[in-house]
Amino acid sequence: MLNNNEDSFPILGIDYLQFYVGNAKQAAHYYKALGFAPVAFMGLETGTRDRVSWLVQQGEVRFVFTGALSPDSPIAEHVKEHGDGVHDVALRVPDAEEAYRVALSRGATSVHEPQVFEDEHGKLVKAAIATYGETIHSLVSRQDYSGVFFPGFQPLDDQGSDGFGIQHIDHVVGNVELGKMNEWVSFYERIMGFTELRHFSDEEISTEYSALMSKVVWDGNGKIKLPINEPAEGKRKSQIEEYLEYYRSPGVQHIAMATEDIVGTVEAMRTAGIEFLRVPGTYYEDVKQRVPQITDKIDALQRNGILADKDEDGYLLQIFTKPVQDRPTCFFEVIERHGAKGFGAGNFKALFESIEREQAARGNL
Ligand code: FE2
Repeated sequence: MLNNNEDSFPILGIDYLQFYVGNAKQAAHYYKALGFAPVAFMGLETGTRDRVSWLVQQGEVRFVFTGALSPDSPIAEHVKEHGDGVHDVALRVPDAEEAYRVALSRGATSVHEPQVFEDEHGKLVKAAIATYGETIHSLVSRQDYSGVFFPGFQPLDDQGSDGFGIQHIDHVVGNVELGKMNEWVSFYERIMGFTELRHFSDEEISTEYSALMSKVVWDGNGKIKLPINEPAEGKRKSQIEEYLEYYRSPGVQHIAMATEDIVGTVEAMRTAGIEFLRVPGTYYEDVKQRVPQITDKIDALQRNGILADKDEDGYLLQIFTKPVQDRPTCFFEVIERHGAKGFGAGNFKALFESIEREQAARGNL
């Protein structure tokens, strides 16, 4: 078993997430409500004929929204099949050609061979491999590039936003089919030398009605944490099954973004129109016993519907948005960590009951 990913498959971080969407201009605008500012653009005005991309940024988090300009585009096909969703979880690596070569030698499927992109700001190299569903991992090395993002992108004049406090991506969660979780866990172990950070017991992640299974793989230093869910047998349709039915394949379920002031971040997002899942008021009576560290901020947490959990290393605060596109597929998490390395397992039950109320409202439970 490969364990020394530091040596064999070094990863510097998540470079960007690219969403394929029906209308990139409007998607980029929506993300202002999550505190993101548009910073670069490519499209007809910059000489690109087949697609439009908007880059938005907050802290170290970069999202690219890409839409098609013709019906025969693979982007249009992707949107027709999946609705708006994450196409690419791009990883920044020291040497994209080497990373690609190593990945393929370990059995990864090629999506794009290494290609050099150049402009007056230097050059960068990008390759891509396939992961679950139609999702890909681009491998990007950009240490010889000083431009705003990628050759072909034009910086926007108006980059004026301090954001809402989001600093970096904490984890990116994938949903895969029943029986496929372990296959994808071993994919990341085999290809990238990741190890299993933890898995969750049945008790933790089932409600009266529905259940899922989840394992987390990571790079060993915390820059990349990828939980992978699969549905489990329950009395009703699980949230993972609902996702797979509407996304029509495995894909990215949620993206957790870290802040140091979750109350401020969430208040700004809610004021801007973002909708969050709610748990019943009774949750907060119980949480004071469970996570005593938060006693002095319980009012602000309860007012905003923010959840708390603890593990042996500390505690964390977290909240989840409702799905951010028409289909009940991708959503976001905002997380503030105080030492805790977990993912909020103590909240899963309350959360899943909340998700089930939403599913029932959609006629999908
Ligand atoms: Fe999460």
